[in-house]
Amino acid sequence: MQVHELAPDQNQRGMTVITGASTGIGRGLAIELARRGEFVALLARRQNLLEEVAASICAAGGRAIVRPCDVTDRAQVLAAFEELERKRGPIERVIANAGGGYKVPSERLSGADVEAMLAVNLVGAVHCVEAALPGMLARGRGHLVFMGSLAGEVGLPQAAAYSAAKAAVARLGEGLRVDLQPRGIDVTVLMPGFVRTRDRRKRRPFEMPLARATARMTDTILDRRPICRFPWTLVALLAVAAILPTRLRDALLRRTGKRAVRSRG
Ligand SMILES: NC(=O)c1ccc[n+]([C@@H]2O[C@H](COP(=O)([O-])OP(=O)(O)OC[C@H]3O[C@@H](n4cnc5c(N)ncnc54)[C@H](OP(=O)(O)O)[C@@H]3O)[C@@H](O)[C@H]2O)c1
Repeated sequence: MQVHELAPDQNQRGMTVITGASTGIGRGLAIELARRGEFVALLARRQNLLEEVAASICAAGGRAIVRPCDVTDRAQVLAAFEELERKRGPIERVIANAGGGYKVPSERLSGADVEAMLAVNLVGAVHCVEAALPGMLARGRGHLVFMGSLAGEVGLPQAAAYSAAKAAVARLGEGLRVDLQPRGIDVTVLMPGFVRTRDRRKRRPFEMPLARATARMTDTILDRRPICRFPWTLVALLAVAAILPTRLRDALLRRTGKRAVRSRG
């Protein structure tokens, strides 16, 4: 596979690799980071969509390159990162955003569902760490960004596997931060609530428009803050839920949570 050069390389700061940049939040983060001057490398499986994102970034005066890659395939990830660094210089930051999940009624939950959600959300992120971290450690600087979710803070009805995968991503990021911060590597865990990435018939609880969510996450990323949890209303509700008696909390989740798991989040 080729690296598609869509802009001249004036890269001073090192590039930001964003996985899952073909649609949704990853696309939004790529556009916003490029608008603020970052040189972005866009990864996902659908090359045609990545090229549309890169073209719109370049048309607006930003810098972007495209590299198709399936993050669940370790060899593909290692090859993509190696090629990007060889051709375009050091990777300063990786945003392991590729991911998602789906609703599974608990009585039908299978190992295959859990494996599929862990493969893209957790193992895919670890492949990116494996590929980028040696260079970052050698340079004594770098930034790893993980895409968790507020869904990882509580076991959501019919989304137990997705909640488990996102809880694992958050713990992964925390553990790496403790180890790596003294060695010059910053780690950020993004924990959004529902973000409106496409038109849906029904709004999900406290859903945030994509542009607002990506601006918020971009601020956190560029400031290299350790964590970003939003919207505050949902964060506050989760804090209250955490101190409720478990049976009461479960009953509330059962009643109100059903709407919340009609799709990813
Ligand atoms: N939207 C929300 O409400 C919300 C809330 C909290 C957290 N999140 C998290 O935010 C991230 C982005 O979600 P989104 O809502 O923007 O969903 P989305 O629009 O479906 O985007 C998912 C992205 O991941 C890519 N992807 C999926 N599997 C991949 C694989 N095996 N290898 C490489 N790329 C892969 C997809 O591209 P290709 O199909 O082209 O590969 C796509 O670019 C996910 O981790 C999600 O769990 C979303």
